Amino acid sequence: MAISKLILSVSLATLATFTHAAPAHAPPTHVDACGILGGLNATAITYKHVVDCYSAIPFDNNQANTTLSTMLTLFKDFYVFTDFALSPTATRPFSDDPVDIIAKMEKIGRTRYTSDYQFHTDIYNAVNSLRDAHTAYYIYCYLAYTFTQKLSLYAPVVDGKQARKTFGIIGLREYDDCTVNMINGQDALTYLKSYARDVIGRSHDPNVRLNSLLATLSFEKEKGIFTENLGDFTLRMTVPEAPYVDYQLQCSHLTQPVDLREEWDIIPQTKATFEDVNSYVTNICLTHTETAPASSQNNAQNKILIKPIPQIIKRAQPEPKTAAPGQQYSGAEQLLAGNATVFYHLKDRPDTGVVVCHTFHVGEEERDVMMEGLEAFNRLNVTNIIVDLQGNTGGYAGYAAFLPDILFPSTYHLPGSLTADLRVSKSIQQISAQGYNSSQSGFFDSSAFINMNNGSSVYQNNDLFDKPVTITRNGRTNLWTEKTQLHWTEAPANYFAAAVPFPWSDKIDNIRVLADGLCGSACAMSAYYFAHRYNVPTYSIGGTHGEDLSMFSFAGASVAELGKVQNWYGMSNMTCPMAEIPYKSMVTFSWLETYGEGRPTPLEYDAELYRPTYRLDYTPANAHSREAMWMDVAAASWK
Ligand SMILES: *[C@@H]1O[C@H](CO)[C@@H](O)[C@H](O)[C@H]1NC(C)=O
Ligand SMILES: *[C@@H]1O[C@H](CO)[C@@H](O)[C@H](O)[C@H]1NC(C)=O
Ligand SMILES: *[C@@H]1O[C@H](CO)[C@@H](O)[C@H](O)[C@H]1NC(C)=O
Ligand SMILES: *[C@@H]1O[C@H](CO)[C@@H](O)[C@H](O)[C@H]1NC(C)=O
Ligand SMILES: *[C@@H]1O[C@H](CO)[C@@H](O)[C@H](O)[C@H]1NC(C)=O
Ligand SMILES: *[C@@H]1O[C@H](CO)[C@@H](O)[C@H](O)[C@H]1NC(C)=O
Ligand SMILES: *[C@@H]1O[C@H](CO)[C@@H](O)[C@H](O)[C@H]1NC(C)=O
Repeated sequence: MAISKLILSVSLATLATFTHAAPAHAPPTHVDACGILGGLNATAITYKHVVDCYSAIPFDNNQANTTLSTMLTLFKDFYVFTDFALSPTATRPFSDDPVDIIAKMEKIGRTRYTSDYQFHTDIYNAVNSLRDAHTAYYIYCYLAYTFTQKLSLYAPVVDGKQARKTFGIIGLREYDDCTVNMINGQDALTYLKSYARDVIGRSHDPNVRLNSLLATLSFEKEKGIFTENLGDFTLRMTVPEAPYVDYQLQCSHLTQPVDLREEWDIIPQTKATFEDVNSYVTNICLTHTETAPASSQNNAQNKILIKPIPQIIKRAQPEPKTAAPGQQYSGAEQLLAGNATVFYHLKDRPDTGVVVCHTFHVGEEERDVMMEGLEAFNRLNVTNIIVDLQGNTGGYAGYAAFLPDILFPSTYHLPGSLTADLRVSKSIQQISAQGYNSSQSGFFDSSAFINMNNGSSVYQNNDLFDKPVTITRNGRTNLWTEKTQLHWTEAPANYFAAAVPFPWSDKIDNIRVLADGLCGSACAMSAYYFAHRYNVPTYSIGGTHGEDLSMFSFAGASVAELGKVQNWYGMSNMTCPMAEIPYKSMVTFSWLETYGEGRPTPLEYDAELYRPTYRLDYTPANAHSREAMWMDVAAASWK
């Protein structure tokens, strides 16, 4: 069986627009903290209302026991990096302390909680400390409101050679483009760097985490343009530290610094109603019985897809002031936009084309979009190509491999996947054995993996899981599969043949990759192939002036969803060793680790491979405009 569609991705925050007013309901009969919250018009909800309701939810010992038992089993028997996370010192550009995730879970088990919210928050923080964006613990009960501010921060502004310790500000009334001197009484850059280091979980690299706090531009397919997103600092899925943030701004049009206290705007993420703590728990927290998914859908494509995590519903924002959709930049003409790939031609540098790949959540048809775009470049006599992978959090691994391969069509590699291995536990052995004949074991199906002792053919038996090897990592001994590779179908050879004559094909001098460290999962695989398979010079933008910055994050694993794993056991008529979490949740984790070619350390932790060839600074101009950023890269790359 071939995995024709391997999805490696993570959906960090899917922003949708939500303009409904909260439904009006009858006044509650008795009023507790959640009753007060539930009775409010959405616009009247404050930070305190949410915190009071969350804090009023009683701790339930049985539910907590089930939840924690599941999480402990997940980290003991299924999570692929439990042992590697204990590594003593991370090398640059990473800087992580060792994480003993099992010890953290056990400590939570020994803690006497009175607050349910505190219990789940402690698990969330422990999982977050792994800095593995594939691994997440989302409890909808405590994600029912998001917190936003009417501003976002961009760019540690660089002034000449000296990084000014300031941030620009956008979106805020008369303070657009003012710089931020202080946040909560501390130097702004110091404050944000500590926050990125301590709180954010998206990357092992603290400078990528800093980037995630800032505003980013992302391509909006429906409008055909880039729009500004709030960063993780001013859009929070979880409850912020305090009801407001104090900023001190310096504006060029004002002589005095401005002190600004910004309260959080609260945006409900649920339309469910409730009138007290009990109905909050019943209607929002507890798992709703859902009809079991049909088990007949037995092809690999369905098995490997993952669902996105909770939607963040955002208030309707004013339309950005732009020209006609698609033609946003005066100096960069949009030639063509597919579902994932957008092609721009730089007017002042007619020899340069830009391929933006903002997602890999695409079908195989996107390959034809890619060919159409490259042919358009060729007709315009483009010879140099910038591949812009910023903010792409992954998707279809086949397209992630196709992108670099089509630019190096003479030397493209078969197969596209990297060497990998999996944890082997008793439970994984049981489901893989039971599932082998029925193909109901989801990812734990040896016939989806190449038997590297037998050429490039897939396993014809369950030896992958039945004959594991013993590996000791950081003092912990566990069973692992032999090295293997996921088997997937490559693009047909005629694509590559058609690309050979293009003037940039197979030429590292004519191709550059631009990323921001937030390119993750399948996108990171793509960047890895460009940088290390084909030796293409790469640029990573942002971070801190004078420090390292990764070009990608969470590269070295594939993600599984707890609910799916539970389904696989169910379809095999086995009891899953991880019981269902009582609360409605989305729990995901890394289940397979890959290795860079010829490397002994799993790619997830192989810090050196994350370094770009060059780092660029954000500037006020390029933070607002991709066109300006592409011109910066082109100017640095070509005469
Ligand atoms: C909520 O408040 C806004 C602003 O005060 C008001 O326009 C709206 O009608 C209110 N909605 C409800 C459902 O009461
Ligand atoms: C759950 O409760 C059982 C029985 O009291 C206990 O043995 C087990 O250790 C608990 N599990 C956790 C994770 O606390
Ligand atoms: C783009 O997405 C739409 C909607 O999902 C789909 O109908 C269309 O076939 C896709 N186009 C390509 C080229 O993949
Ligand atoms: C591309 O180059 C060819 C050959 O020099 C020339 O004839 C053609 O006009 C150029 N096309 C464009 C769009 O500049
Ligand atoms: C799967 O099939 C093989 C060969 O047909 C058989 O030897 C084996 O016992 C079966 N395994 C299970 C768990 O049914
Ligand atoms: C090795 O691969 C061939 C097909 O390429 C297959 O027929 C054979 O059964 C495989 N051997 C083992 C031990 O898996
Ligand atoms: C699970 O049990 C059902 C009902 O007994 C049966 O129809 C089905 O074939 C079983 N599935 C597997 C994978 O054994």
